[in-house]
Amino acid sequence: MTIKKVDSRYIKEIYELEQKYLPPFGFVVSKKELKEVLDLGLTWGLFEGDMLIGKAGFLKDNNGGYEIDGIVVSPKFRRKGYGKLLLKNNLKEVKKQNPRSIYLFVHPQNNVAIILYLKNGFVIKDYIKKKYNGQDRLKMVYSKLKTQEQKSKLL
Ligand SMILES: CC(C)(COP(=O)(O)OP(=O)(O)OC[C@H]1O[C@@H](n2cnc3c(N)ncnc32)[C@H](O)[C@@H]1OP(=O)(O)O)[C@@H](O)C(=O)NCCC(=O)NCCS
Repeated sequence: MTIKKVDSRYIKEIYELEQKYLPPFGFVVSKKELKEVLDLGLTWGLFEGDMLIGKAGFLKDNNGGYEIDGIVVSPKFRRKGYGKLLLKNNLKEVKKQNPRSIYLFVHPQNNVAIILYLKNGFVIKDYIKKKYNGQDRLKMVYSKLKTQEQKSKLL
């Protein structure tokens, strides 16, 4: 099993993975939007051999914050720790960008994902009504991020 950066050369596989397995709780973006996201170079794929079996990425906002975006693992490979692996890899990569905050939006009924995030340092911050296509979302924020001040004290 390997994790590597993926770009828009993988658009077909990633689009298929998202379309098939993000619903009912995840929001699927159009191929055009997906290409724009992939071109940012902030998406990682999980591969078994040549086969893409999962992916995760993040997006930068205008305030120095980073949003963890659409983690998905193909159903046959779930409950083996790969979701956690993708999330941990994502956190490691986001931290390299010196983020002011790290957050994500999750469907309020997506218990599996909510538990995954709670177990890995996220806390629930807000309930947002009609965030995507009329669907509600929980906003979860990574609570273990060290501030610049904390970092300099460690030096
Ligand atoms: C969410 C998702 C990525 C988790 O992937 P995964 O590879 O199964 O996750 P992991 O095996 O790393 O599990 C991590 C934790 O999640 C929880 N979890 C995972 N599957 C679970 C299940 N079926 N029931 C209860 N808890 C579960 C467990 O607490 C687990 O921790 P543990 O291994 O210490 O018990 C996967 O279920 C998925 O692709 N779902 C559809 C897409 C989606 O909704 N993505 C989130 C968008 S915000």
